[in-house]
Amino acid sequence: MSRNTFGGPALAGLIVASCAVAVVAMAADASKKPADNSYCLVCHANFKTEELAKNHEKHGVGCEKCHGESDRHSADEDGLTPPEIMFPKEKILDGCAKCHALTKLRAVEDHDAAFAKDPAKRKVCTDCHGKHRMAVRTRHWDKATGKLIKAEGVRMMQKDTPATNAK
Ligand code: HEC
Ligand code: HEC
Ligand code: HEC
Ligand code: HEC
Repeated sequence: MSRNTFGGPALAGLIVASCAVAVVAMAADASKKPADNSYCLVCHANFKTEELAKNHEKHGVGCEKCHGESDRHSADEDGLTPPEIMFPKEKILDGCAKCHALTKLRAVEDHDAAFAKDPAKRKVCTDCHGKHRMAVRTRHWDKATGKLIKAEGVRMMQKDTPATNAK
């Protein structure tokens, strides 16, 4: 594993061990050098202009920092191999907090909903930041284990088709 990733739910055996170590040193310090996401954008064209991806890209935090290097996922033309790191809803906050200190996040007034005691009223970070979701899904993996649950038909991921546009 040459490139750096932060820990999260991962495919067993792929990157779990290396990530746990990488996490410790991570912090949301602005980096001057933008990340190169072109490898992923070949298929995920809609994320080229998406706010969460774009804002992090310019600070050197590319897709792979959050989702893992995911070489096997990227090379699988059938699209059945999951990326290395996915985010079940309840893991999103933890994932962001690896770099964004919780004390700082709690201090933002607009963040009351993110820390609401009542789970029914609670919002996840990606409810408000970016449009980081695909309108159409043809592959369904268990985001915690990477197990393929359902694959429907052939995935067309051309640029600007309704299937690749974010909601
Ligand atoms: C060869 C095409 C291809 C490449 C290259 C590719 N992906 Fe994907 N990716 C897919 C397909 C197909 C899906 C499933 C889309 C669907 O549900 O219809 C997917 C889904 C995903 C998901 C959703 C997982 C979830 O939560 O369910 C993530 C995250 C992801 N890719 C990350 C990446 C990253 C990061 C890269 C670059 C390192 C990358 N992909 C490169 C084809 C690709
Ligand atoms: C700062 C961390 C971060 C970065 C950078 C990032 N992602 Fe994500 N990604 C997430 C999180 C968190 C989720 C889960 C979002 C949710 O469920 O609301 C996610 C979900 C996804 C999904 C699944 C969307 C769906 O409809 O379920 C895809 C596909 C994806 N990311 C691709 C990418 C690609 C491609 C890049 C780079 C261009 C990228 N991500 C960069 C954190 C990140
Ligand atoms: C690998 C480290 C890392 C992770 C993980 C991460 N961020 Fe960031 N984020 C950064 C850096 C670096 C910056 C730029 C410096 C700053 O503003 O703190 C940033 C900036 C931001 C900004 C300000 C963007 C702007 O330019 O106005 C928001 C909002 C943000 N992140 C949200 C999130 C959310 C939501 C998640 C989880 C899905 C997340 N971040 C996960 C590193 C990270
Ligand atoms: C209810 C909507 C909402 C939710 C949920 C939410 N945010 Fe925010 N966040 C905002 C708004 C509004 C701002 C202030 C305006 C801005 O900078 O975008 C903000 C600001 C930020 C900033 C910049 C803070 C600064 O010091 O300038 C970061 C980083 C951030 N959010 C990350 C997160 C993370 C991580 C989560 C999940 C724990 C999260 N946000 C959840 C709405 C939200």
